Amino acid sequence: MTRNKLFAANWKMYKTPPQATEFVAAFLPMVADVTADDIALCAPAVCISAVAGAVKGSRIGVGAQNMHWEKEGAFTGEISAEMIAASGCQYVILGHSERRQYFGETDATVNRKLEVALEAGLTPIVCVGEVIEEREAGLTDDVLRRQCTSAFRGISAAKAAKLAIAYEPVWAIGTGKTATPQLAAQAHETIRHEASKAFGKGFAEKLRILYGGSVKPENAKALMSEAELDGALVGGASLDPKSFAAIVHYQA
Ligand code: PGA
Repeated sequence: MTRNKLFAANWKMYKTPPQATEFVAAFLPMVADVTADDIALCAPAVCISAVAGAVKGSRIGVGAQNMHWEKEGAFTGEISAEMIAASGCQYVILGHSERRQYFGETDATVNRKLEVALEAGLTPIVCVGEVIEEREAGLTDDVLRRQCTSAFRGISAAKAAKLAIAYEPVWAIGTGKTATPQLAAQAHETIRHEASKAFGKGFAEKLRILYGGSVKPENAKALMSEAELDGALVGGASLDPKSFAAIVHYQA
C-alpha cells in the first residue's frame, strides 16, 4: 500500500506575520513541482491568517500547533478548533511533547482535543513518543501503546478518517540526534498496530505516520526510504525555506 507523504513544518514560537509571509513567498516557487505529496505549514496562531492568504491557490496547507478541547467558553488566551479552521487551517498539531512537557498536556486532553478537531473537519497530527529514560528502560512500545490507546478512546474509525500521527522520540527533538530509520520504522509499526486495533486493518494501512525529531535535508532521504515513514514533522529545519524545500525534495 503506498501512501502519499505529508511534510509538515512546525514553526513553534518563531516568525511574525511579516516573516511568515516572506517565508511563503520564497518557499512557493521552490515546491511548485511537488504534486504527489502534501505540505503543511503549522504556524503560530497569530500568523495563520497571513500564511493562509499567502498560500492561496497553491497545494500547501496551513496548520495550527495547538487548540483547546472546548468549542468555546471563558478560557482566556485559548483558541478553538472552529477559530483556527475559520482562519484558514486544515491541520492542527495535537499533543506535541513540548505541550506535554511545559504546558500540562496529558493523554486525556489529547483525546478530548482529537475528538473536537475531527468534528471541526481538521486533519489532526497527533504526536506521540518516548523520553530517553523510557527508551533506555525498554519502555518505548508501552509508552506508544498507552499514548495511542488514550488518544483514540471513544473515537470511531469513520470519525477518525483524517487522522495523522507523528512519532517524535522526545530525545531526538531539537537535539541533532535522529532516530535511525530502522528504529523509527519499528516505532511506526507499533503505532500502526495500535491504530489497527482501534480502527481496523484497512484504516491502519491508510494511516499516515510521520517521523519527527531533527529531520534535516541530510537525513531526509534515508528516513523516507523506510516504507513505514509517511512524511516528516520538521521543527528547526523548517524555519528556512531552502532547507524545508530540500526535505520535501528528499528524493533529489
Ligand atoms: P526538530 O523539531 O525538527 O527541531 O527536532 C521537531 C518537532 O518538535 O516537531
